[in-house]
Amino acid sequence: MIVVTSIAGQSTAARIQTALADTCPEIIPTGADSVALGQTLQTLTHDQAGIVVGTLDVLLSALAPRLVDPAQRLRSPIVLVTPDGASVIAISGVAQGVDALARQIATALGVRAVTLRPVPEHVDAAPARTTGRLAVIGLGPGAPEWMAPAVRDELTRAQDIIGYTTYVRLAGIFRPDQRILDSDNRCELERARLAFELAAQGRQVVVVSSGDPGVFAMAAAVMEALDCATNSSWHSVELAILPGISAAQAVAAKSGAPLGHDFCVLSLSDNLKPWSQIERRLEYAALADLVIALYNPSSKARPWQLGQALERLRHHRRPETPVVLGRDVGRSAEQITVTTLDGVRPEQVDMRTLVIIGSSQTRRIRRPDGTDWVYTPRWYPGD
Ligand SMILES: C[S@@+](CC[C@H](N)C(=O)[O-])C[C@H]1O[C@@H](n2cnc3c(N)ncnc32)[C@H](O)[C@@H]1O
Repeated sequence: MIVVTSIAGQSTAARIQTALADTCPEIIPTGADSVALGQTLQTLTHDQAGIVVGTLDVLLSALAPRLVDPAQRLRSPIVLVTPDGASVIAISGVAQGVDALARQIATALGVRAVTLRPVPEHVDAAPARTTGRLAVIGLGPGAPEWMAPAVRDELTRAQDIIGYTTYVRLAGIFRPDQRILDSDNRCELERARLAFELAAQGRQVVVVSSGDPGVFAMAAAVMEALDCATNSSWHSVELAILPGISAAQAVAAKSGAPLGHDFCVLSLSDNLKPWSQIERRLEYAALADLVIALYNPSSKARPWQLGQALERLRHHRRPETPVVLGRDVGRSAEQITVTTLDGVRPEQVDMRTLVIIGSSQTRRIRRPDGTDWVYTPRWYPGD
């Protein structure tokens, strides 16, 4: 429902109605009468949003009785939009997605949404929350515009930010009241346990991963810590995993569509699994003619593994099989190299690189600038 309290707000209301056409909100004019506005908002059902095009003073007068009388308390998401469309303010209804709605309206009006919460958030008959929240978030590969809005909101809300120093720096600038607990990349389980300890004390905790937190990253460590929890209060923590764009997706998008057909992702790191297992998986992936995305392909401590992996794959795939190397994708030093299985050299690859090895069907298209697109068609030839 879009409630307009003045003639001046009518065109803004119409623009919002167009932007939200998929939910067909009706426009209800109430005039600047706060009693009529309050009564109109009272008709909203729990999950129905109220968008008030008007001024803050009229809305606050309408909401005031509902602050003191529990019987009248509003449980709907409420967004205030000023009549000129210059300000979009999320007022109440966090749990029902008011922030996302405010952002959608703000985007349609070409402005930024802000948040104001004069109305205490009411949770029906729920006991006061004694435990906190633990969100495991994926930053995406690095470009700020590739970070999901939900992840950004979570970072804004966080009291404690836990993660590998490099990723915490990528996550942005934090306020002085936010506590940064960054550490070495290797102590994943310790980080996960610390996160649960803090959340169990009632803190809002964010654990930061690059890319997607569920792809060779912190979400699994957090799950494992919970699985092995000795402290039962960890199970009461509100736990959320917020996805991000994984490196394979980012490199694929930058180079065309190499993952357009069946593919697999493998980590070449033998820190957490035996090399023999990695070799077996490479062999089966090659036999299955899957496009292969290789994470953790090489590092100073693991200099020979990629060379061996490539040798193994060369037994199964044509020398001219397209290979994409994406380094620092989404960051200022981004580099995309398209080469072949025959031509690729381990020295071209480091820990900041994601390697995509094409299947028998993966192809190249010359671009006007002399570089190549790479893609794998959606279909596969029959027997
Ligand atoms: C521990 S894994 C983390 C993967 C991450 N969770 C994801 O979903 O992208 C680290 C590996 O991901 C790849 N990677 C991560 N970010 C990258 C980027 N921006 N550009 C290229 N490769 C990246 C590299 O292969 C790196 O060695």
